[in-house]
Amino acid sequence: MESILVTGGCGFIGSHFVRLLCAEEKFRVINLDKLTYAGNLENLSDLAGGFRFVRGDIADRDLVDRVLKEERPWAIVNFAAESHVDRSILDASLFLQTNIGGLHVLLEAIRAVPVKRFLHVSTDEVYGDREGRDAAAEESALRPGSPYAASKASADLLCLAYRRTYDLPIIITRSSNNYGPFQFPEKLIPLCIRNAVAGLKLPVYADGRQSRDWLHVEDNCRAILAALNKARPGSLYNIGAGGEWKNLDVVRAVCRAVAAQTGQHLEQVESNIEFVADRPGHDRRYALKTENIRRELGWYPRTGFESGLEQTVRWYLSHPDWVARVTSGEYQQYYDAVYARQWGKPS
Ligand SMILES: NC(=O)c1ccc[n+]([C@@H]2O[C@H](COP(=O)([O-])OP(=O)(O)OC[C@H]3O[C@@H](n4cnc5c(N)ncnc54)[C@H](O)[C@@H]3O)[C@@H](O)[C@H]2O)c1
Repeated sequence: MESILVTGGCGFIGSHFVRLLCAEEKFRVINLDKLTYAGNLENLSDLAGGFRFVRGDIADRDLVDRVLKEERPWAIVNFAAESHVDRSILDASLFLQTNIGGLHVLLEAIRAVPVKRFLHVSTDEVYGDREGRDAAAEESALRPGSPYAASKASADLLCLAYRRTYDLPIIITRSSNNYGPFQFPEKLIPLCIRNAVAGLKLPVYADGRQSRDWLHVEDNCRAILAALNKARPGSLYNIGAGGEWKNLDVVRAVCRAVAAQTGQHLEQVESNIEFVADRPGHDRRYALKTENIRRELGWYPRTGFESGLEQTVRWYLSHPDWVARVTSGEYQQYYDAVYARQWGKPS
């Protein structure tokens, strides 16, 4: 049985990917995760022992070398990252350490212990703001607009350079915004679900007309697995659902789903929408051209946004204990710092 090393497999997308790999029953899965505030082994509690878990940092070269030598994995899929734009504005240090430094360690490690595939998970945010421009194709210029996006774009460039210089079997996927169960409730959709249920304010940046292409997390994971199995080393694929939703419309859709599922009055839930000062450098629009992955790998998204959102709201409503546990402590301090409008103060 081939083994696959997944990094960041206790986070939002990584945990869905580990679950997908385990369901395939074709691979032995090793999950290397530092368990930051965003990583939670509980996200995989249903798999009880179905994978090997290694707690550690992808930037720890000795640890990565040891795991590679022990496991000799067929492939590595790198999800591990600091992933929240707002946090990168408060302090970018960890983003550079993990998203660039950690990736560099992984690339150096596979020069010493080769793998057949190294799939690096990137984001549409590397193309920057597409307001007034075409949707981004894979060969579009990188114009990151936030410290987070800059760290991801730097990682992509490092991957491309290592591919060319050392002929490493690297594949990159760049997906649009994901949503679904197990997303940490600092990101727009789970934050709004949590606040709508609790009767708290629903903060919307500026006029709420920023648009994003929302992709169900399971669709993204199937795309990443298709790329891992079928893509040629050296290839790069955009992944998106192909719809564009304004943030305010997303928040209203969350309100509708929460009202319908809890019996609250829609007007009451919507009355908590509050426009707050924009975040610095906020990109207005992300949009991707995704013909390549559809044509070459036969992938297409299966979940429409509204039904995926209803299912996601149902999941959060039926997992209040999970929400309470992950939102206690450190996260609460961070939430207070951001929404008390303290941009610019180092954390
Ligand atoms: N969430 C999205 O909408 C989205 C969209 C496009 C791309 N991405 C990318 O997908 C990947 C996963 O995103 P996510 O939303 O699941 O993130 P997440 O923040 O939910 O999870 C990140 C995981 O990485 C782990 N981690 C962080 N630093 C680490 C380190 N130094 N060593 C080992 N593990 C570490 C965390 O503990 C956590 O389990 C990221 O690379 C992100 O940039 C996310």
